Amino acid sequence: MSDVVLEAQDLTRHYEVSQGFLKPKAHVKALNGVSFQLRAGKTLAVVGESGCGKSTLARQLTLIEAPTAGKLVLDGTDITKAGKGDIKDLRKKVQMVFQNPYASLNPRQKIGDQLAEPLTINTTLTKAEREEKVRAMMTRVGLRPEHFFRYPHMFSGGQRQRIAIARAMMLQPKIVVADEPTSALDVSIQAQVLNLFMDLQEEFNTAYVFISHNLSVVEHVADDLMVMYLGRAVEMGTKEVIYSKPMHPYTQALLSATPSVFAEDRRTKIRIEGELPSPLNPPTGCAFHKRCPYADTRCQQETPDLRPVEGRQIACHHVERIATHIA
Ligand SMILES: Nc1ncnc2c1ncn2[C@@H]1O[C@H](COP(=O)(O)OP(=O)(O)OP(=O)(O)O)[C@@H](O)[C@H]1O
Ligand SMILES: [Mg+2]
Repeated sequence: MSDVVLEAQDLTRHYEVSQGFLKPKAHVKALNGVSFQLRAGKTLAVVGESGCGKSTLARQLTLIEAPTAGKLVLDGTDITKAGKGDIKDLRKKVQMVFQNPYASLNPRQKIGDQLAEPLTINTTLTKAEREEKVRAMMTRVGLRPEHFFRYPHMFSGGQRQRIAIARAMMLQPKIVVADEPTSALDVSIQAQVLNLFMDLQEEFNTAYVFISHNLSVVEHVADDLMVMYLGRAVEMGTKEVIYSKPMHPYTQALLSATPSVFAEDRRTKIRIEGELPSPLNPPTGCAFHKRCPYADTRCQQETPDLRPVEGRQIACHHVERIATHIA
């Protein structure tokens, strides 16, 4: 498909960790073979509980880290085969917005200068041209002209996130990876920042990978959805398909815990007990089997692959049985 700007195939990231003196190194399987496509100008939301590998995925997509295995094609370039020059070009095309904007801004540099920096490094624009572009982007994200000379500590959390978004957008990247970009903000400010994301997407046709644990937020912004569990995708498809009929027991549990998404009478509440298992020592078979009400011996032994069922991809041996059960 020509409108795919990012493609991940079996993307894997393991971290080697020490277990103590003279003990062999262990491997944290933070990202364990994830495959998906991101469409130009669209939003893929990534959801899943804390520790399932969302930020690890974000670091691979934004070239902050190199994957242990798998393939990543960014705007037609396979990063595993790309030279240093190609990687430098790709870095301009993929930008990241973090949860905590204060940590991602330089406290000692004026906002105007911070926003101009990507242009100074990557373009041949004159100082006056850079300043003009910065001022235009500041207006675009809802900042005022006098903010140009201020430092990060002089802004509210919402304004700081607007600055971080402006900086990510300065080079008009094809892809922005946003890792919980509104989680640290007040609810009223969250909605404004989400609307800003969506307006900018429409204007610049930017594709977003939008990471969030808040399924109401995801419902607002996503076109496509990937539900992750312990470093893998368990259900993937368009937002409409998954929100109208979640089929994986984990997706059902996540969505049934989101009041604004699920009217009380639409589905019985599904509660998952226990915690996410450790990616250092993942369970055999289906990683979800210890917490799944439908699991049997096959689930303990055999890892389910993603397969197409009712318009989405799903990794579950018993999804057909579960679907009849909940209908
Ligand atoms: N550099 C590292 N070294 C060792 N383990 C790591 C490293 N980075 C992440 N991990 C482990 O990988 C797993 C996934 O972490 P990650 O930060 O990607 O989760 P997450 O889904 O973003 O969680 P959260 O929702 O809390 O942000 C965790 O078990 C984490 O401890
Ligand atoms: Mg994270």
